[in-house]
Amino acid sequence: MRGPDLASELLALHPAPPLEGLADAHGRSIRYMRLSLTDRCNFRCVYCMPPEGLTPLPHAEVLSYEELLRFCRLSAALGISRYKITGGEPLCRKGALDFIHALKTLPGVRQVSLTTNAALLRGALPRLAALGLDGINISLDTLNPKRYRAITASSALPDEAVAALQEARGLGLTVKINAVPVAGYNDGDLVPLARFALEQGCFVRFIELMPVGQARAFAGLSQAQIRRDMEEAFGPLTPLAESIGNGPAEHFTVAGYSGGIGFISALSKKFCRSCNRVRLTAAGFLKVCLHHETGRDMKALLRGNLSDEELARAIRGAIWEKPLAHSFEEASAPGGPRAFFMSSVGG
Ligand code: 5AD
Ligand code: SF4
Repeated sequence: MRGPDLASELLALHPAPPLEGLADAHGRSIRYMRLSLTDRCNFRCVYCMPPEGLTPLPHAEVLSYEELLRFCRLSAALGISRYKITGGEPLCRKGALDFIHALKTLPGVRQVSLTTNAALLRGALPRLAALGLDGINISLDTLNPKRYRAITASSALPDEAVAALQEARGLGLTVKINAVPVAGYNDGDLVPLARFALEQGCFVRFIELMPVGQARAFAGLSQAQIRRDMEEAFGPLTPLAESIGNGPAEHFTVAGYSGGIGFISALSKKFCRSCNRVRLTAAGFLKVCLHHETGRDMKALLRGNLSDEELARAIRGAIWEKPLAHSFEEASAPGGPRAFFMSSVGG
């Protein structure tokens, strides 16, 4: 049963967090929220979804834009100032641009950026540029058309993502490329991909494959391995002094180029100690660690006639309980924690 009773029950289950600040019990300050607008996607990347796809959530089980905006208004007032719009593929949801526009204008929201596979991006670009989007991460694992199609299990072409990237930059938007190296799929394509990014003057970031859901059947490549290939191709990587982006990536520059190379290595360079993020799934669950089930069913709370104060307390409470670290190391062993699909969590 949904409604006020369930909501009060959920609230009563958890003790109130301290009154001040948006911190967790381990002293980390949480300022960044990844919002999944939808679990649907026009791709079926092999490490993310089964080939036949997943049964999408019924519409009623996905937070409405009104619910999302109320949640964001409250979390922004608590101090979460940066938002990343994710999916599935966020541009698959009707009304995504209106929502991004509304989010951008909420008090306390300083930055809104978007993660996308870029298949639907071109048509959206003029509006995104006009509303002042703060950045776009384009997921692009290879420039090789055959392997791009194999990885994304779609009929899309990498050229479409490339064209969208160039158009976005032409409109003055900041673009980064995110690539997940997967053994046997794109290991030979990483140097050409990096060369392309460098020549465009953008950053490519290599994301270590995290062993969740589908991905547990694949092997990622480690940062050390990729770094060796990059240095062989481009010379030494120089660490960037100031941090760019929202968090855990290590960024490097390469002599002769204005772009650069980054790594997001949740396994080989575990960054949980400085984790600053939480996630809201498409189903409205406030997931405070990618790996753990800790969090709050915000959908039940939002649909439960609670006051803003009660909802804010639930958000602070969930964040306070953020687990110290993931244990993906163990998750790759048989019998590890329950599988979930990245497409419903948004990366
Ligand atoms: N490990 C690391 N990154 C992943 N992504 C999807 N699944 C995984 C995984 N198991 C990435 C996508 C996209 C972003 C939203 O998350 O490639 O770039
Ligand atoms: Fe879609 Fe992204 Fe998953 Fe690929 S990784 S299937 S683009 S949600």
